[in-house]
Amino acid sequence: MKVTVVSRSGREVVKGGIHLSDSATVADLQEAIHKQTKKQPSRQRLTLAVQPGSKERPVVLNYKKSLKDYTSGNSETLTVVFKDLGPQVSYRTLFFCEYLGPLLLYPVFYYFPVYQYFGYQGERVIHSVQTYALYYWCFHYAKRILETFFVHRFSHATSPLSNVFRNCAYYWSFGSYIAYYVNHPLYTPVSDLQMKIGFGFGILCQISNFYCHIILKNLRSPGGEGGYQIPKGFLFNIVTCANYTTEIYQWLGFNIATQTVAGYIFLVVATFIMTNWAFAKHRRLKKVCFLTFYNSVHQYGLQEKCIHFTTKFSCKG
Ligand SMILES: NC(=O)c1ccc[n+]([C@@H]2O[C@H](COP(=O)([O-])OP(=O)(O)OC[C@H]3O[C@@H](n4cnc5c(N)ncnc54)[C@H](OP(=O)(O)O)[C@@H]3O)[C@@H](O)[C@H]2O)c1
Repeated sequence: MKVTVVSRSGREVVKGGIHLSDSATVADLQEAIHKQTKKQPSRQRLTLAVQPGSKERPVVLNYKKSLKDYTSGNSETLTVVFKDLGPQVSYRTLFFCEYLGPLLLYPVFYYFPVYQYFGYQGERVIHSVQTYALYYWCFHYAKRILETFFVHRFSHATSPLSNVFRNCAYYWSFGSYIAYYVNHPLYTPVSDLQMKIGFGFGILCQISNFYCHIILKNLRSPGGEGGYQIPKGFLFNIVTCANYTTEIYQWLGFNIATQTVAGYIFLVVATFIMTNWAFAKHRRLKKVCFLTFYNSVHQYGLQEKCIHFTTKFSCKG
């Protein structure tokens, strides 16, 4: 089989194309491209060519599949579009880097005399809420790192290296910003009752968040395909992205207990980000829901009813 590899502008990436056996997989093609271009398979995005002017999304080639699956009929030729995604890092590395910053930076403001470098000369009295905030904060980021390595089953192996810098800038700067104000010598603590309500509620939400991640983990088999399924049970029966809801509420708990402008700004930004992601994930799961319904109807021989359903609700099957 001859595979022609072109860039998105139509320029040939591998001169003369690549010749592979008929049983070759997409992974074999990626290896062959790697030999010719020195671009690692993880940074290669291969798609099928789409008609010029078409608004359809190009089909992304799955590395596990055979190239034959992407040829029309018995065709002996295939044209694929190659995009260089740039240097990549594993998802675990990305998450580890972004969470390690706040985990290490926050205690620096609590334990070390950093405020003297900001012009504060007086004696520093540490309030109990500042100590509990330190424990709460470190527990949160340690939990996230442990979940990254032992709970989450990611669908994508890698992420662009540039995301490490972007995400670290977000987490490290917000972490330092909040730590600076919560640990400040002039910090005014909230009442004991407010602190207990805040941390109590926050811990409950952190435990719920962990349980949500266990539910998400169980939607995928250990070495299986990525894929998305509709999470069920616990808070997922009420809200699509219960993991984000509990994440937002646990930050609310932290802010009720510590009450800083910096903490509330972070809460607003994080809520904005997670709300957008939640809407996108909800839309994706609605598609999964429709396909599951369509397949079940097909399986039980109720196609006519399904066609009626799709016409009635203007769904494109
Ligand atoms: N403070 C903030 O600004 C902020 C922002 C975002 C997230 N977070 C926290 O970080 C956690 C991780 O966030 P995330 O957005 O990377 O991941 P996520 O959406 O919470 O998902 C966690 C894991 O579950 C998988 N998953 C999600 N939905 C699934 C489904 N329907 N079927 C099968 N598997 C599914 C994900 O797979 P994929 O690899 O396919 O995604 C991922 O491996 C969040 O839950 C939240 O606690 C905090």
